[in-house]
Amino acid sequence: MGIKREKSDCSFTSVMALIQKYQHNIPERYVLPPFQRPNPSRVDQISNNHPVIDLSKMNHPAHRSRIINEVRTACNQLGYFQVINHGIPTSVMKDALDAAEDFFNLPSDEKTRFASTDVHEPVRYGTSVNHGTDKVFYWRDFIKHYANPISDWIHLWPSNPPTYKEKMGNYAKAMKDLQKQLMEVVLESLGLNVNYLHDDIEDGSQVMTVNCYPSCPKPDLALGMPPHTDFGTITILNQSHQGLEIMDRDKKWHPVPFIQGALIVQLGDQLEVISNGRYKSVPHRAILNMQRKRFSIASLHSMHIEKKVGPAPELVDEQHPVAYREGSFGGFLDYISDKSISKGKYIDTLKIT
Ligand code: OGA
Ligand code: NI
Repeated sequence: MGIKREKSDCSFTSVMALIQKYQHNIPERYVLPPFQRPNPSRVDQISNNHPVIDLSKMNHPAHRSRIINEVRTACNQLGYFQVINHGIPTSVMKDALDAAEDFFNLPSDEKTRFASTDVHEPVRYGTSVNHGTDKVFYWRDFIKHYANPISDWIHLWPSNPPTYKEKMGNYAKAMKDLQKQLMEVVLESLGLNVNYLHDDIEDGSQVMTVNCYPSCPKPDLALGMPPHTDFGTITILNQSHQGLEIMDRDKKWHPVPFIQGALIVQLGDQLEVISNGRYKSVPHRAILNMQRKRFSIASLHSMHIEKKVGPAPELVDEQHPVAYREGSFGGFLDYISDKSISKGKYIDTLKIT
């Protein structure tokens, strides 16, 4: 992709290693400037209005039209929703979170063999967002790995803990199936054909981002993840505890209520582009707590890394002229790995104004 791969700088201290020493305060590099800190007095004015969509009998026509209407409302208003009765067994969801916990509990040496600051690596362990470039650090360790088609990637995943591949693999396959069903509903909610981009969705890229947020002695001064939108079409998030916040259209932050067994679905930038701006990707961040570690697994779906996508022609007319140029997951990775462009988002470079 024309960008020189850099030698990865593997020397960093994970938050898991840090917490042995820091039990009452946090190192300076984690302290956010005051205006970026989570505001503990924030009021959750839409607390009764967080969309939870029941997917049972999803393929029954009467249920399906209700689900499509609920998805449309949620996507229009917030760009995210939770799903229940989604068909993923509780054990599959729990096993994946257990595998995550077991991985982050390994000694540093076992984890750093996957360390890299090169965002093009198909398996990458790190801390913060990118410890090679971050000015302020975030209280998070992560491992990311590609997952679709799983046979292309699973041999690159951690072999330790020994059950990691099996547990995370089962979960990844379940997410792949669920995202296909959810994409159909989301596309239908936009008035598109249920088969729109069908093969591209099937062959699409899937990145599993496995996050570990240790308890933090100063949760009001730091964040687990900065405000961002996800690159792809949709992200499906599984979490051990509450900690995700989303930003509404008035730029107010709201904690997403924790519902045992539910999965959180977030719209990403690629879906905003496909929808020609009718739907917007949802800004979100991860906050911290003093009590316990939190784990989350985000399954990020998008079109194939090389596949360029623009707005659906059906969503372009006189009132809605083409609002975005075509972009790709690969284009996004190149953009974020070029350090000369530290400001701005990839999707903003695609906007036609
Ligand atoms: C992500 C993400 C949020 C969370 O991995 O992209 O936004 O709650 N995670 O872990
Ligand atoms: Ni995210």
